[in-house]
Amino acid sequence: MKHLMNPLDLSVEEMDRMFDLAGDIERNPEKYSHICDGKRIATLFYEPSTRTRLSFESAMLNLGGQVIGFPDGGVSSAAKGESVADTIRVVSCFADICAMRHPKEGAPYVAAEFSKIPVINAGDGGHQHPTQTLTDLLTIRSLQGRLDNFTVGICGDLKFGRTTHSLVNALARYKGIRFIFISPPELRIPDYITEMLSSKDIEFSEVIKLEDSIADLDVLYMTRVQRERFFNEDDYVRLKDFYVLTQEKLRNAKESMLILHPLPRVNEISVDVDSDPRAAYFKQVQYGVYVRMALILTLLGLVPEEYNA
Ligand code: CP
Repeated sequence: MKHLMNPLDLSVEEMDRMFDLAGDIERNPEKYSHICDGKRIATLFYEPSTRTRLSFESAMLNLGGQVIGFPDGGVSSAAKGESVADTIRVVSCFADICAMRHPKEGAPYVAAEFSKIPVINAGDGGHQHPTQTLTDLLTIRSLQGRLDNFTVGICGDLKFGRTTHSLVNALARYKGIRFIFISPPELRIPDYITEMLSSKDIEFSEVIKLEDSIADLDVLYMTRVQRERFFNEDDYVRLKDFYVLTQEKLRNAKESMLILHPLPRVNEISVDVDSDPRAAYFKQVQYGVYVRMALILTLLGLVPEEYNA
């Protein structure tokens, strides 16, 4: 049985096949509308979510399956002290696959250890968010036609932003990727990630000002400052508007540059950017449903023959 905890749990070849499958799902949704008849996904969300939970639920409904779960640990028996290990043993009796989000790093790993069904990490603390990465890569591949030879700027809260950690891990496996990490010093990318890049001779730089590097970028990945991970509200208030992308700041950017954001947006992209042809963050949400459909089929062993290795 396979789980998904980290994007690196999938090889590049497995990811590419999943993206091909997601493309077929986009083009031929009716072909997939009953593949999961009789199957259930449990969405166990101990932390708030709009996109990830609802896109997993939409994905399973689009495949003909059903959804059970809870949107908040406070309405589950976690509030009475039940452990993640016990909860997943119980949920394994009710569902065929599970997506779990938890504020504690590693909680979905514990669930996977005790589970009888595939577990998908839907975001664990400031650690990893592998299905956001599948969404991000499918968006880039669908809109640019490839996943190699890009200069990628990642901007904002690179310390606590789990989507950025997963994205760098996954993109680092493609040829010709160069990273520019744009953050205030307090929110710089963790050392374990820069050490991984150095060990693989992957080019990266760290800068503070977005304006200094925007002209070089093929992809600009904006992120919000993660208020829920700060120990001190004053620090959050000081840093929350450090970056605000506006039409004015895009003046020197390439015409072909993609602007991505995992969302939710707070204030880091001005709404006047939404109508810019480079803004792809709402398209990203739709790709997130296709790729989660492909992931559910993969983990349940229901991939049509032509997309199996
Ligand atoms: N991108 C993302 O994880 O959004 P949600 O927190 O709304 O699920």
